[in-house]
Amino acid sequence: MTDPPPGPRREWAFRPLPEWVGPTTRLVHGARRPEWNAGAVVPPIYQTSTFRFPPDRSEAAERGAVYHYSRNENPTLEPPAELLRQLEGGEAVRLFASGMGAISAALLSLVRAGDTVVALRGIYGGTTDLLRNTLPRFGATVRELSGPEARTPETAMPSGTRLAVLETPSNPLLEVHDIARWARAARAIGAVLLVDSTFATPLNQRPLELGADLVVHSATKYLGGHSDLTAGALVGRKSLLERIDPASSFGAPLDPFAAFLLHRSLKTLALRVGRQNENGRRVADAVKDHPAVARVHYPGRATAEQEAIAARQMTGRGGMVSISLRGGIPAVERFLDRLRLVEIAASLGGVESLVSMPRLSSQRFLTPEERHELGIDDGLVRLSLGIEDPDDLVRDVRDALDAAR
Ligand SMILES: Cc1ncc(COP(=O)(O)O)c(C=O)c1O
Repeated sequence: MTDPPPGPRREWAFRPLPEWVGPTTRLVHGARRPEWNAGAVVPPIYQTSTFRFPPDRSEAAERGAVYHYSRNENPTLEPPAELLRQLEGGEAVRLFASGMGAISAALLSLVRAGDTVVALRGIYGGTTDLLRNTLPRFGATVRELSGPEARTPETAMPSGTRLAVLETPSNPLLEVHDIARWARAARAIGAVLLVDSTFATPLNQRPLELGADLVVHSATKYLGGHSDLTAGALVGRKSLLERIDPASSFGAPLDPFAAFLLHRSLKTLALRVGRQNENGRRVADAVKDHPAVARVHYPGRATAEQEAIAARQMTGRGGMVSISLRGGIPAVERFLDRLRLVEIAASLGGVESLVSMPRLSSQRFLTPEERHELGIDDGLVRLSLGIEDPDDLVRDVRDALDAAR
């Protein structure tokens, strides 16, 4: 039997779903298409670096409608990309080898020498590092907004800003920022707004609907969900994504096996995030009056204004809770030693609960003075609640807090 000839990519359309289908169902069925090999229900992994040219070579190839080379395109990436496109409500998607692959491709593609970039202060350390230490080398000026300035972007964003970078809820203090307000401010001066929505997932927050131009995810976190892959995604306007090319120039597309795992994981995203939302709320409530705790950080809890923004733009608050312990580093050490379920590790969003110390992990790029100014103190621990039984997690965290006193 001879193989069917490779076909133009447009023949691989996904079967449309009825428009009444909700996100949980969409995650399971939203990327179905007739696969040519054996009618597999689960799409195969196209573990190949290159593709045979079609016999007629010319027409389809010229239109760029054939698979060509895996740094540029690979069919294994299309189902997870399509699910994320549908969930975020975007026109186009690009998948990358990591969240930082996505963020660096966006920043390096969109910003030119002489541009101003505005960013929220105290966001993920890798992004801060790129903004502070890489972009200026290419002639861009970066302004970080914090405190009252971050709450009034319309007056704080200088005219001539090319790109605004927002992260909400923010890492590690879980502050909520008004996406619609940042989007209006950016649009008024012709800037592109990029929102890192990693902590929220598209099930809890949809930045494009609130006016953002691009959404970025570290898919290593909730979207992958099992702490077994690294991936990144950018979703947004086609015209913008066409300017961000992971393939030809920066060379950091997602690997086919990781794409297969990501698709497998996305099917259960709604179940996992539902439980993680519940576990986040349960733990935040259970620890807030504990004597070892100076402050609990949970999306919307800080002020009435934060609560109003969270209620407007989030449908669930996520599974992240940061706790400031009264006793500083010694209390953190006693707390970590006593945990029996929650594991000490960087990263977040997996089925297993993890705890990290922001001063040693995500926020290590900030100076101690900057961390102090932002409220990231030495007693801060960041919990990523998994899908375990809520009662078990509450017990584990409360026991460890008792030991931290
Ligand atoms: C909010 C946020 N954005 C981006 C990243 C970077 O993602 P990755 O580690 O997949 O490169 C992280 C990683 O922790 C993150 O927490």
